[in-house]
Amino acid sequence: MQHSYDVLIIGSGAAGLTLALRLNPALAIAVISKDELKENSTNYAQGGIAAVLESDDNYASHINDTMIAGAGVCDLNAVKFTVENAPECIHWLIDLGVNFTRNPADNGFKYHLTREGGHAHRRIIHSADSTGKDLEETLIKTAKSRANIKIFEHHIAVDLFKSDGRCCGAYIYNTAADRVDAFSAAATVIATGGASKVYLYSSNPSVSSGDGIAMGYRAGCIVENMEFNQFHPTCLYHPQAGSFLISEAMRGEGARLLLPDGTRFMPGFDERAELAPRDIVARAIDYEMKKLGIRNVLLDISHKPADFIRSHFPGIHQKCLDFGIDITREPIPVVPAAHYTCGGLKVDLNGCTNVAGLYAIGEASCTGLHGANRLASNSLLECLVFGTSAARHISSSVKSSQRHEIVPEWDDSRVEKAREEVLLLHNWDEIRRVMWNYVGIVRSNERLKRAKARIDMLKTEIKEYYSRHRVNRDFIELRHLIVVAELIVDGAMRRKQSVGLHYNIDCPAAA
Ligand code: FAD
Ligand code: SIN
Repeated sequence: MQHSYDVLIIGSGAAGLTLALRLNPALAIAVISKDELKENSTNYAQGGIAAVLESDDNYASHINDTMIAGAGVCDLNAVKFTVENAPECIHWLIDLGVNFTRNPADNGFKYHLTREGGHAHRRIIHSADSTGKDLEETLIKTAKSRANIKIFEHHIAVDLFKSDGRCCGAYIYNTAADRVDAFSAAATVIATGGASKVYLYSSNPSVSSGDGIAMGYRAGCIVENMEFNQFHPTCLYHPQAGSFLISEAMRGEGARLLLPDGTRFMPGFDERAELAPRDIVARAIDYEMKKLGIRNVLLDISHKPADFIRSHFPGIHQKCLDFGIDITREPIPVVPAAHYTCGGLKVDLNGCTNVAGLYAIGEASCTGLHGANRLASNSLLECLVFGTSAARHISSSVKSSQRHEIVPEWDDSRVEKAREEVLLLHNWDEIRRVMWNYVGIVRSNERLKRAKARIDMLKTEIKEYYSRHRVNRDFIELRHLIVVAELIVDGAMRRKQSVGLHYNIDCPAAA
């Protein structure tokens, strides 16, 4: 089946929906979401959004903090651009109706600002500890009210289509109809989020399988910095908890990391202690866990008043109570887990990739903002700032109902339905274990060599399987996942210095 739009946006998180809402309303827009509209990392974001919003803070400080966290690998232009455009984006969200937590003291700025690791100031605006939910609900409600935006839930992008070097749209699998449709557009935007599901343990929802990065790479996009996968230091450690995050804002409000005997260990690793950038905290936890042979460390905020804890962290308080942990009285068992993809499709300040007609925004992109390690709460910010700049660029270059190349129908006449789908699950599991065991928080040349050999073998298997079988969701994601795994391993093998999130015991630290 054929569909034709002015703009095709693949992804319905903060990046995709910001773009959709900020485009010229005369443009016909399709927003594609592989699951329910709200099932994405944005919806689970806790801590908040970083921006200079108070008079005692300043751009130079936010820029400096971002550059320090990024360990010298950030692009200063992208950092400045993001930081300086941040306040406008926050005011846009306030106007849309996002319910940010108010400041009880009301000393100049109406909203409460919290602090997170690596920030010299309190500059994180938030909705208690469920900022993402509030943000996503507001964006969805507004998008649904716009007549020019057509939403396609449970539709999964399989591949981009190019003609004469230009991206003209994408093939999208319609889950309900079990068929692949052709979507043509004058501009196509990848807003598919990150790839942290390539690791066995992750804070991310299952949609984060790096689909857009893989599709862009196959279409000829430059991909950068994939070796910098961020591990969040504190995910709840409980057999039934799945992937629940304990926000960094908790450390910002005074929580301490402890060993099982109650000893505080972060001051021995960094003078910023619990508020050092994430790569340092995650590595310190990893070190202590391996040294002591323990399964988790502890995060303790119980020294703060119970009312304070309940009002600042209502979601975390309740979730922990569900597992029998009362955080007002006892510490929380925590472990690091894969959290954020700093690399992605290389773009300029307008979100343009090197492929004509193709944009990338949000976690799927690499703008240069994060360098070797993302500063806390700079990610939602990047989605907003680049969603806005890409909207401006597309609005000025695409005319309503502009003629564009039509993507030909998908041809699956030579493939058949798979007989043993369980093989896909085995491949999924293997990739995620290999990445966790060999390409994790601490790497070595030997581990990377092992990872490369196994990923190469899996890649051959998956490619061969793809040539014979019809697609379905697991299969589409697996085909994207293996590309992402390969990009991370290759990036890690190419980088000969330990820097930021890439820590290889056989490589010297960057000066
Ligand atoms: P997402 O929000 O992940 O959206 C991706 C979209 O793409 C989804 O709608 C998905 O369905 C769609 N998609 C993917 N593949 C396909 C496909 N093949 N076909 C069709 N659709 C597809 N950052 C902060 O700045 N502050 C925070 O407090 C914060 N807290 C976080 C807490 C958690 C638990 C997590 C997981 C992340 C957190 N982050 C935070 C990071 C931040 O939430 C994400 O980086 C950001 O939301 C990414 O937004 P996005 O729009 O790029 O992608
Ligand atoms: C958190 O709340 O700790 C997540 C913040 C982020 O990923 O930026």
